[in-house]
Amino acid sequence: MRDPFPRVDGLLRAGSTTLEELADRYGSPLYVYDADHVRGRLEEIESAFAGVDLLVAYSVKANGSLGLLNRIGATGAGADIVSAGELHRALAAGIPGGRIVFAGVGKTTAEMEDALRAGIYAFNVESEPELWRLAGVAEGLGIPAPVALRVNPDILSPTPHEYTRTGHAASKFGIPIERAPALYAQMAGNPHLDVRGIDVHIGSQIVDPDPYRAALTEVLRVVDQLAEQGIPLEFVDLGGGYGVAYGADERRLALDELAAAVVPALRERNLRLILEPGRFVVGQAGVLVTRVLYLKESGGKTFVITDGGMTELLRPSHYGGYHRIDPVRDRPDAEVRTVDVVGPICESGDFLAQDRALPLPEPGDLLAVRTSGAYGFTMALNYNGRLRPPEVMVEGDQVHLIRHRENLDDLVRGEVIPGTS
Ligand code: LLP
Repeated sequence: MRDPFPRVDGLLRAGSTTLEELADRYGSPLYVYDADHVRGRLEEIESAFAGVDLLVAYSVKANGSLGLLNRIGATGAGADIVSAGELHRALAAGIPGGRIVFAGVGKTTAEMEDALRAGIYAFNVESEPELWRLAGVAEGLGIPAPVALRVNPDILSPTPHEYTRTGHAASKFGIPIERAPALYAQMAGNPHLDVRGIDVHIGSQIVDPDPYRAALTEVLRVVDQLAEQGIPLEFVDLGGGYGVAYGADERRLALDELAAAVVPALRERNLRLILEPGRFVVGQAGVLVTRVLYLKESGGKTFVITDGGMTELLRPSHYGGYHRIDPVRDRPDAEVRTVDVVGPICESGDFLAQDRALPLPEPGDLLAVRTSGAYGFTMALNYNGRLRPPEVMVEGDQVHLIRHRENLDDLVRGEVIPGTS
């Protein structure tokens, strides 16, 4: 797909405007998204998996901002959620309950009640105690709970960071797959549970289709065994995790290769497919725009100090995540220097890039931190008294402010000084 933020006449563009204009209008740091790029990604998924009954349950945790989520839902996509908060977001964005699946290892009774009342499509249950708690909650409400087991296939997926691997036995996610047949037999006999499908999610930022193929094989083994036991399933949910390229030379997951394995196997069994992409849909559709405040030389290093840092984009600091950084206004004559791009937060781990060769910017210059649409704003923090940044969505030739910058009152909202009224 085309770059949503191409350089034209030396300036990075967004829709019919430039990142510079947007930063001048809304201030920095600032998130900018391209809604058309997001729709293009969803179409790419739809066409790769054409031929099977597909529900794309977009993973809200990647970016749950209502303006963007509304556009995603309007394409017919559903939502993968992990909390009552994300349920609230998905419903508020106009995504119907019948297109929502609910994962997460620690669902509370209150969250189960909210989701049952919202008529969600399936709970992806992650432990046996959760399953029986859910059956009890469903009984109490008189609403049978639609369920799938999230199985753990014990596959170690090669993700860039150990924090984003979820498919191996020693992770907290899912139910050991060998327990599944016996549990489904018990579920099928429980009047408060409505057995719908089976779910697996092996990690995030995976670029190799092999671990998915391995997970599919394991899951289909269970599906076939259940069919023989007279417990037919309606869907297979293969989770998300489809890797995108963060750098120019990096690989991304080839969806067609994945689809080639998945589509025939599901068609043959007349199964519906659920996919839960997050990053793949919104990652490259977003940039964080930040302004250079100061340059500083120390200990043989050059620090480019920006007004955005780990509180706006935690990925570099938390996962060692690489994000390409481009000057918003081209500086063809600038010296290329190896620098650390660091934020204003009082932590040595606060950086956007380390040892990065960049055209040396000047104070006042804007930088675009690429591929920040996923796990950018959703992981933003108020640490150090930081105001979370605004978000702008460009769509065709329109510019929408979809979130205002937080203000100082937002920062202390809900707090109480004892003894004052
Ligand atoms: N489904 C489930 C059950 C998940 O836990 C996740 C992500 C997804 C779908 C979507 O994964 P995606 O397609 O976006 O890779 N903060 C980390 C990523 C954490 C992913 C958590 N689960 C990062 O910035 O790399």
